[in-house]
Amino acid sequence: MKIAILPGDGIGPEIVDQAVNVLNVLGLKFEMETAAVGGAGYAAHGHPLPEATLKLAKEADAILFGAVGDFQYDSLERSLRPEQAILGLRKHLQLFANFRPAILYPELTGASTLKPEVVSGLDILIIRELNGDIYFGSPRGMREAPDGPFKGSREGFDTMRYSEPEIRRIAHVAFQAARKRDRRLTSVDKANVLETFQFWRDIMIDVHKEYPDVELDHMYVDNAAMQLVRAPKKFDVLVTGNMFGDILSDAAAMLTGSIGMLPSASLDANNKGLYEPSHGSAPDIAGKGIANPLATILSAAMMLRFTFNLGSEADRIETAVKKVLAQGLRTADIFEAGTTKVGTAEMGAAVVRALA
Ligand code: IPM
Ligand code: MG
Repeated sequence: MKIAILPGDGIGPEIVDQAVNVLNVLGLKFEMETAAVGGAGYAAHGHPLPEATLKLAKEADAILFGAVGDFQYDSLERSLRPEQAILGLRKHLQLFANFRPAILYPELTGASTLKPEVVSGLDILIIRELNGDIYFGSPRGMREAPDGPFKGSREGFDTMRYSEPEIRRIAHVAFQAARKRDRRLTSVDKANVLETFQFWRDIMIDVHKEYPDVELDHMYVDNAAMQLVRAPKKFDVLVTGNMFGDILSDAAAMLTGSIGMLPSASLDANNKGLYEPSHGSAPDIAGKGIANPLATILSAAMMLRFTFNLGSEADRIETAVKKVLAQGLRTADIFEAGTTKVGTAEMGAAVVRALA
């Protein structure tokens, strides 16, 4: 069980440390190796995804990833920016299936900006395709417009495209995930405007024939955005493309009011995975010891469940997290009057204690 530890930038190292402590207390035999990624990769080796880091990520069974990005790297050319590390890992390792659960813990209902009756008990799962769409489609670039009303002017362009096998494989992942839950799947598209997503819808309908026990419906992305804030509990599992999934998963995360609590998994076809918190590198609070490590700790739990088939160990971690919340411990991002404010290391240590 080899795990590549890629802490990255900003609060990444602090939160990953806590997740590693949690993994170490389980008494399992993990081999862990750490490497630089993102801005830290650029600083150390001149590239956000250094060759040695990519090699380690390929060899490992799973990757525990912190976060990448820091103000100081914003002016670098695109290919050297920290974000290229995560995009490169997703592409090189064919991590095409991104699981982004949005769960509202009962103790944190007050953290949401939405009314309690709208969000209490929320438990939905967004499955985002991660290897295709306008994120990776070619051609792309900047050029002189070859046609259209602004022919000859400078323009930027990207290409939205999805191949049939790409849609089929994410559809299977989504139907199978829905089977393990409430058996309801909503496919989010823009079939009314985009050819890519009419095709997406056609394939979803075709794959559905293999999963008659799962209820499938289709929703345009603009309506899905509206329904997510109007009545989010009506959803069970959503499946969508890379671009729409990026946007909707941030909206869904905020329903819970605590993006510091949400883990994510990005899987290949063999359940090798990259596990990372849903939030970013928060460079403004880096090094202060106040970041919430729970999303990363919960990502480690997802790793045990998905990659290592250690479901009961994953349950143990999730139970321990619930226990520290019930004890009233809160990092600054989820703090409310009447609870106890703790730092990153204290929160991690509390989870370790709850596991013992
Ligand atoms: C995410 C992030 C990334 C994305 C960025 C950092 C490249 O927003 O994981 O959602 O757009 O996919
Ligand atoms: Mg995003």
